[in-house]
Amino acid sequence: MKLENPNSFRTGPDERGHFGIFGGRFVAETLMPLILDLERHYEAAKKDPAFHAELNNLLTHYVGRPSPLYFAERLTEYLGGAKIYFKREELNHTGAHKINNVLGQILLARRMGKTRIIAETGAGQHGVATATACARFGLECIVYMGAVDVERQKPNVFRMNMLGAKVVPVQSGARTLKDAMNEALRDWVTNVEDTFYCIGTAAGPHPYPAMVRDFQCIIGEETRKQMLAAEGRLPDSLFACIGGGSNAIGLFHPFLDDRQIEIYGVEAAGYGLDKAHAASLAGGRPGVLHGNRTYLLMDADGQIEEGHSISAGLDYPGIGPEHSWLKETGRVTYLSATDDEALAAFQLCARQEGIIPALEPAHALARVIEIAPTKPREHLLVVNISGRGDKDIFTVAEHLGGM
Ligand SMILES: Cc1ncc(COP(=O)(O)O)c(C=O)c1O
Repeated sequence: MKLENPNSFRTGPDERGHFGIFGGRFVAETLMPLILDLERHYEAAKKDPAFHAELNNLLTHYVGRPSPLYFAERLTEYLGGAKIYFKREELNHTGAHKINNVLGQILLARRMGKTRIIAETGAGQHGVATATACARFGLECIVYMGAVDVERQKPNVFRMNMLGAKVVPVQSGARTLKDAMNEALRDWVTNVEDTFYCIGTAAGPHPYPAMVRDFQCIIGEETRKQMLAAEGRLPDSLFACIGGGSNAIGLFHPFLDDRQIEIYGVEAAGYGLDKAHAASLAGGRPGVLHGNRTYLLMDADGQIEEGHSISAGLDYPGIGPEHSWLKETGRVTYLSATDDEALAAFQLCARQEGIIPALEPAHALARVIEIAPTKPREHLLVVNISGRGDKDIFTVAEHLGGM
């Protein structure tokens, strides 16, 4: 399927939340008034300078933005091709890009007078960011997390508990992110009065995909300015890993209309694309899940299949609808990396740069390792290091035999 190539890639979604045939809001009747209310408040907040001032103040003094754009000199030398820059989202307070979006949504929840915050989490980074912001503003926080993820992301479960959040292990389905999101949506339908659902990626029913993207666009906006300051021109290529797609769309969106820039999203190929994986674009087809139409991993009957990835943040069997559209239009190239490739990239980054990346961005690094050497030395490449690897040390140690 090839969708029409628009004049601008930055105008979506339409007023009903569609990116081409993707997106929309497929939600239960009880949720519809809540979604419309959220959209109204978000539209008002977007136009309110006080909202932006408060958010920017927090991003500067609480999160520590701008995050550096760092020239990875030794990795560049080692690979011998493109000049590689890291956008260092792992240096943010709480250790990942997730906090950018959470602070926006929590300020919105406060404007709406909501006192109870719920969230889903996979790797636990969104859960930690939500627990952090709730502690900062004295809000009740409940985080739904698949029981499997509770086990493999223990450090983040401790952190959420310490921050005063209640972590609810979800025992249904594969007991990972999809199931946590199902449970959070169930909670929201039953607690409509006081509850705000803080979604952690650029997916879900409209307006979430656009709203999360807007809050994450700070990544790409800063990168533009920082690259112009460092090199006097824009980058030649961008790389980011894709779970639901929020760190990627945050980096990509401000560059979508600079058509000379190559843009690569990297999905999780797990054990391989012919085996268990979580690459919805490479191995899925369009369907409806969690309130939007997008590429999904499904069996022949349309039942959702479980995604597999070594990385808890990438094993979602879907993807944000804007990415599905960007794939169809051909503006972004979507690749994938296996568990083993991510593990190798994780180690190379640690040894060459003294930076331990999360397993999620290690997937993006795996494709950088392959593509950078094919580019000339003047090629400026940016990879989003969306989070730090502290949470993954037990998983990595297990795979590498305790190191
Ligand atoms: C560090 C990190 N990077 C990336 C992701 C994937 O999410 P997204 O695709 O929304 O950026 C996660 C999700 O938990 C994460 O923790």
